[in-house]
Amino acid sequence: MTLTLLEALRRRYSPRKYASRPLAPQDLALIFEAARWAPSAFNRQPWRFLVTRQGTEAYQRLLAVLSPGNLSWARTAPVLVLAAALEEDERGPNRYALHDLGLACGLLTAQAAALGIYPHFMAGFDKEKAREVFGLPPHVRPVTVIALGYPGPDEPPRERTRHPLHELVFEEAWERPASWAHQEVRA
Ligand SMILES: Cc1cc2nc3c(=O)[nH]c(=O)nc-3n(C[C@H](O)[C@H](O)[C@H](O)COP(=O)(O)O)c2cc1C
Repeated sequence: MTLTLLEALRRRYSPRKYASRPLAPQDLALIFEAARWAPSAFNRQPWRFLVTRQGTEAYQRLLAVLSPGNLSWARTAPVLVLAAALEEDERGPNRYALHDLGLACGLLTAQAAALGIYPHFMAGFDKEKAREVFGLPPHVRPVTVIALGYPGPDEPPRERTRHPLHELVFEEAWERPASWAHQEVRA
């Protein structure tokens, strides 16, 4: 079954248990290729991703920097990724590095969801330890760890909630809900 992009995004959730099925290298390539095409301020492309696969020493080292709550479920993910932002490059400081890393992560999420692969982002990890363990230079800021994999089959369903569209999108004046944002959106 082919899903529309919107439907794939609606179905995606942040798993707390992953299936043991490994990720094919070509699917990983597709996911990060999508991130690569993100727009960025002055096309500075400040995103960097360090990918580790279950069963490797690097994966264990990344797992070890997670907060205990995240560690408990993230160890089921076949792939863990350290996402980092280049806060400075040859042009000088980049105030939009975090924005642009987030945008690249958004595209990565969309491509992954289209493949049935669900990312779970984590801010709960020791940034200084990650910096130290992987030898990140000072201008590189570790931002999230991303678990990637197919969702586990026996995870109890969790309710996912979002603010309604009309609370988020204004038209022509601040806090004036967009007229079309009240309707049910169909993909
Ligand atoms: C930047 C960022 C940091 C997050 N940090 C954590 C985390 O440390 N632990 C966790 O379990 N979930 C974390 N999440 C997942 C969110 O809680 C989750 O995306 C949100 O509740 C919406 O649920 P959904 O992704 O299933 O739609 C994080 C998400 C983002 C985008």
